Amino acid sequence: MDFTLTDEQVALQDTARRFARDEIAPVAAEYDQSGEFPHEIMKKAWELGLSSLSIPHEYDGVGLSLLDSCLVVEELAWGCSGMATSIMANDLGLTPILVGGDEVQKKEWLGQLTGSIFNQIAFCLSEPAAGSDVAGLQLLAEKDGDDYILNGTKCWITNGGVAELYTVFATLDRSSRHKGICAFVMPSDLPGIAPGKKEDKMGQRASDTCVIHFDNVRVPASQRLGEEGEGFKIAMQTLDTTRPSIGALACGIAQRALDESVAYAQERKAFGFPIAGFQAVQFMLADMAKNLEAGRLLTRQSAWMIDEGLRASKFSSFAKCFSTDMAMDATTDAVQVFGGNGYTKEYPVEKLMRHAKLMQIYEGTNQIQRLVIARELLKE
Ligand code: CAA
Repeated sequence: MDFTLTDEQVALQDTARRFARDEIAPVAAEYDQSGEFPHEIMKKAWELGLSSLSIPHEYDGVGLSLLDSCLVVEELAWGCSGMATSIMANDLGLTPILVGGDEVQKKEWLGQLTGSIFNQIAFCLSEPAAGSDVAGLQLLAEKDGDDYILNGTKCWITNGGVAELYTVFATLDRSSRHKGICAFVMPSDLPGIAPGKKEDKMGQRASDTCVIHFDNVRVPASQRLGEEGEGFKIAMQTLDTTRPSIGALACGIAQRALDESVAYAQERKAFGFPIAGFQAVQFMLADMAKNLEAGRLLTRQSAWMIDEGLRASKFSSFAKCFSTDMAMDATTDAVQVFGGNGYTKEYPVEKLMRHAKLMQIYEGTNQIQRLVIARELLKE
């Protein structure tokens, strides 16, 4: 087994690292405070080939493996996980097309993400009364000739207010639970689509999260991904594929927490010595480093399994759950290392802690990850 990155992977990592350090990190606190969407950064990331990473070469995409994407995402998240979320939300939004789309759909819709105009795509799954319980979603799709008419509300949609395209999950019959769900792809400016309230969040404030209303939205059947009733599995396969990237995002946050803590501990003095000399602080740094490495290994293993075409539900959930819990612990300890300073906005670690909290919630809460893991174990 060889854990060495190839020269190409190191170069890719370097590009993302430079972008995170030069473009993202210097403005991260500003965007965090204002809650504005970082349009310029998003466009620059796209121009550099650092977004929509999973579109294959045959559709004019960057064509990165998931393992390579994870290397990029981790670096971006070091700069700001809110911006990294906005950037990688495109891959979440487009994955249902890769999973369920036919050739014509792939060419048409992925082409809109690789052309000369910068477009974004949002994944519209969650609803006010159906977050963890996807099969309970209520957005109704009623057949009308060759079209479907969509009515209902989505919420917690990353990039919902800024994306030009949506992948949307709706049900033909609310009582048939997962068997009634269909997936669609559509432009976000169809008549009847109205992005609503933008959430005023605790962290990751540079990412746009909003409600979207669908009021008699007419969608042609040619924009349905897969067959009727296949939407639930398309959503699950999408999440299996994207959860390793959440692991990578969490590793980026934890690496930043560790880097900031090591630097601060060597500089800050107490009892006449740098606090890095005290075991009480050393043990926190050691735990951060050790657990981060474990999260990184799980993340890379799950990404590698998906690249190899192996079913990886359990390992994706391992990576997502372990790494995001690990980032929460690492950022909490980073605030502890900084003491009172860590609790102020003058230092970067309180932002890391706020950001880490969201990682335990989105793309399936960590309770849902444990449920997926347990179900897989009991099936084996
Ligand atoms: N791949 C393929 N098929 C799958 C599957 C998978 N990973 N998981 C389940 N299925 C299949 C099952 O085999 C079953 O198939 P049959 O009908 O043929 O038997 C069917 O789907 C139903 O499966 P379950 O009975 O397991 O379904 P469930 O209703 O009990 O729910 C769940 C399962 C794991 C709880 C699921 O609802 C889930 O993952 N919930 C979390 C949702 C989530 O992660 N939301 C995040 C939103 S996106 C986001 O947050 C992103 C962001 O903003 C950045």
